[in-house]
Amino acid sequence: MRVLVTGGAGYIGSHTSVELLKEGHDVLVVDDLSNSSPESLRRVAELAGRPAEFIEANVGDAAALDAAFVSFRPDAVIHFAGRKAVGESTQLPLLYYRENVAATVTLLEVMAAHGCGRIVFSSSATVYGSASEPPFAEDAPTGATNPYGWTKHMIEQILADAAAADQELAVAVLRYFNPIGAHESGRIGEDPKGVPNNLLPFVAQVAAGRRTGLQVFGNDYPTPDGTGLRDYIHVVDLAQGHLAALARIGEGAGCHVWNLGTGRPLSVLEVIEAYQKASGVTIPYQIVARRPGDVAASYADVSKAERELGWRAQRSLDQACADTVRWQSNNPDGYAG
Ligand code: NAD
Ligand code: WQD
Repeated sequence: MRVLVTGGAGYIGSHTSVELLKEGHDVLVVDDLSNSSPESLRRVAELAGRPAEFIEANVGDAAALDAAFVSFRPDAVIHFAGRKAVGESTQLPLLYYRENVAATVTLLEVMAAHGCGRIVFSSSATVYGSASEPPFAEDAPTGATNPYGWTKHMIEQILADAAAADQELAVAVLRYFNPIGAHESGRIGEDPKGVPNNLLPFVAQVAAGRRTGLQVFGNDYPTPDGTGLRDYIHVVDLAQGHLAALARIGEGAGCHVWNLGTGRPLSVLEVIEAYQKASGVTIPYQIVARRPGDVAASYADVSKAERELGWRAQRSLDQACADTVRWQSNNPDGYAG
């Protein structure tokens, strides 16, 4: 299949591109490099044994996208491109609505103009918010508490409406839980710019000596050790979930929603312990106040994805930590090195 991958130079997109190329698909990455480096794509080619094509463009640029569809003639799109920093989205909401929501509308219009009727979209478990109790099944109530979360919620609605109106359109909405880890080669991984927003990259930089210590946001949650529980999924398992979803929506039109997680809740302290074991380094940490907006627990009901996609996460937290240690120690400055 010919797959156009938006945001394919980024963290999840680069790992998914490797899996697509390895399975024999042809890949065109469209990415504006606003949060990534072209070096990731050089390494994708090295790992897959052949390159993805690449066009540097914003997904909201209709003319550039149109030219990409003319030259590449994709059968399907996997749409990763988007801004993802929750805090930044509260400061720059219009940027998030333009880069995430408006760009997706442009993408759907260009797809329709070229008769491309298959799209897999990166949504987020953030849409479950605190409206119900985990484990979250796909039919649980959804909402959002920040502009980033609203962009995911709105795009899900746009995709459902577009699929309802177009009998040829097949949509997979994938709600990711907490992606972690790196390719086992240590060649590609997560390369956050500035201070990492997420737990694992922060822990990795503390272990590597780039930061002095970790703040643990609250130990007074109603959880076994008092720290927050999350569903951490290895990025290669997540990547493989996209291939399963792409195959499944090839069977017919309609809009489907699937959780991609492990279903296994893990605490912040368990993550620290696993990373210490993998790295052999003691991670200094301090318990501080809860982070505003955090929920006590978020983890997936994975039964729908298992049943309908024949997919389940295979890799452990220990493996994700070992792979992150390899990525971090081989690339102390990420792709910049
Ligand atoms: P990332 O920032 O590493 O990758 C996103 C890529 O898209 C980057 O290469 C960036 O340069 C590019 N990009 C951003 N906006 C663009 C635009 N308008 N046009 C073209 N390129 C654009 O992020 P990631 O972690 O790989 O996330 C990929 C997707 O998964 C995002 O949509 C994100 O919201 C979603 N997601 C991520 C997580 C997570 O924790 N990493 C969790 C749930 C959902
Ligand atoms: C995990 C746990 C923190 C950092 C976010 C987004 C969500 C999704 C995934 C995109 C929590 C604790 C963290 C630190 C800590 N992204 N923590 N010290 O908040 O579950 O989800 O990323 O869609 O939308 O909100 O992930 O990695 O930030 O936090 O104690 O320095 O680690 O409180 O319990 P989160 P996270």
